[in-house]
Amino acid sequence: MVSKNWPLFFLGAILFLLLIGFSASRSPSLNRISKRSISDQDDLNFLDEEQTDLDELFGAAAKPEYGLKIDSYLSYEKLDSLIHQLQKKYPNLVRVRSIGKSVEGRELWAVQITHDVQEERKLLKPMFKYVANMHGDETVGYALMVFLIQYLVYNDQVDDRVTKILSSTDVYILPTINPDGYTKSQEGLCGSLEGYVGRQNAEGVDLNRNFPEQFEYNEDKVYAQETKVIMQFIKTQPFVLSGNLHGGAIVASYPYDSSPYEENCCFESKVPDRKFFIQLARNYANKNPMMSPGRACGFQFDGGITNGNNWYKVPGGMQDFNYVNSNCFEMTMEISCCKYPPGRDLRAYWVANKESLLDFIESTRKGIYGLVVDKEGDPVPSAKITVQGINKNITVTSRGEYWRLLAPGQYTITATATGYEPVSTKNIIVDNKEPNRLDFVLAKINGRKRGPGRI
Ligand SMILES: *[C@@H]1O[C@H](CO)[C@@H](O)[C@H](O)[C@H]1NC(C)=O
Repeated sequence: MVSKNWPLFFLGAILFLLLIGFSASRSPSLNRISKRSISDQDDLNFLDEEQTDLDELFGAAAKPEYGLKIDSYLSYEKLDSLIHQLQKKYPNLVRVRSIGKSVEGRELWAVQITHDVQEERKLLKPMFKYVANMHGDETVGYALMVFLIQYLVYNDQVDDRVTKILSSTDVYILPTINPDGYTKSQEGLCGSLEGYVGRQNAEGVDLNRNFPEQFEYNEDKVYAQETKVIMQFIKTQPFVLSGNLHGGAIVASYPYDSSPYEENCCFESKVPDRKFFIQLARNYANKNPMMSPGRACGFQFDGGITNGNNWYKVPGGMQDFNYVNSNCFEMTMEISCCKYPPGRDLRAYWVANKESLLDFIESTRKGIYGLVVDKEGDPVPSAKITVQGINKNITVTSRGEYWRLLAPGQYTITATATGYEPVSTKNIIVDNKEPNRLDFVLAKINGRKRGPGRI
């Protein structure tokens, strides 16, 4: 067939190429960005030769037998086999589970890394998550999560800091929650493809606009398959802290991303835990030499941080959803100007983000934490933890646990539960040098059973 019709085939191919060239030249931004080499950009200039020493950057994970690849991206299929191999080799440290499927049927993998991962979570061990690549063409976060998974696994029991993280924190890493988009994206392209193919899910939904919006309730909103899966995950798992990795700018962006006002930007939409979030953002930016100058990708951010809404409004974003609908505090890290830089640049992004990424996980243990129990020592699962002056309550888990992230300061903390006398503890000092444990014992109101009365 082909041999007989080859002239037609040839003609078709030429027409196709012409069409591609034409559409690319009609899209100046696409053209310009894709031709620009990331290596020319200011954000890689901080890199000097010494900082690229592999042993220093990856520790034990750099051993040749582990085959760590730092100059290329793993395909979705290779990610699948890597994490399952790790699970097989390190069954007490790594657990892979799918939290659900994408529109095209790809699993949304969550890689849980912590000591004794097969056992029930140790009481009061806090849960942390990194979520990357919800915009499928913002791939640096995906690549760094692939590195981080290997870094944590291979450096456990070798590097004290890693060992401490994995003994004290239940770490979940979701390298991509938009694998369909990732698969359609194009390496080397710094901006999005036409029509946002790759950024969006397979049905053209921008997942970071697809969550319920706190300031504009819309009961008719249609949620994408991926959004439903992630919402369920966020609501049912007691995460404490979360990082949401994006690209296209370099800045640590904290909630709220949205406001009750029409304006698209340029004023802060204040979150009750503003003080803690600003500290969190500063910590991330200060340890990241690409981010701390606050000048990258044509933007200027004081100290490399911003309130989300002050930059531009993101209604229906995942970050605000976490804070409003769960106990989990989420911050967004924008970590590369170029959305999908060539693989050879990835090591530079690891150099820039490694310290910040580790430090951010360690922040899970800031503030105070403890148990809320009744006189018998049983958990009071309906209890809430309130902090005077901060209008955001934390609900305890079914096992009576709570974690309350707080910036350094002096606080009055109250535990309340329906049917129980509230208990307040004043003058709690938080310095965030060591985690601060504070338990509450609640007594029932009218502890005695009522006598026979009206029924
Ligand atoms: C937090 O709990 C307190 C005490 O029950 C309540 O007065 C307050 O309205 C709650 N705040 C929020 C945001 O739910």
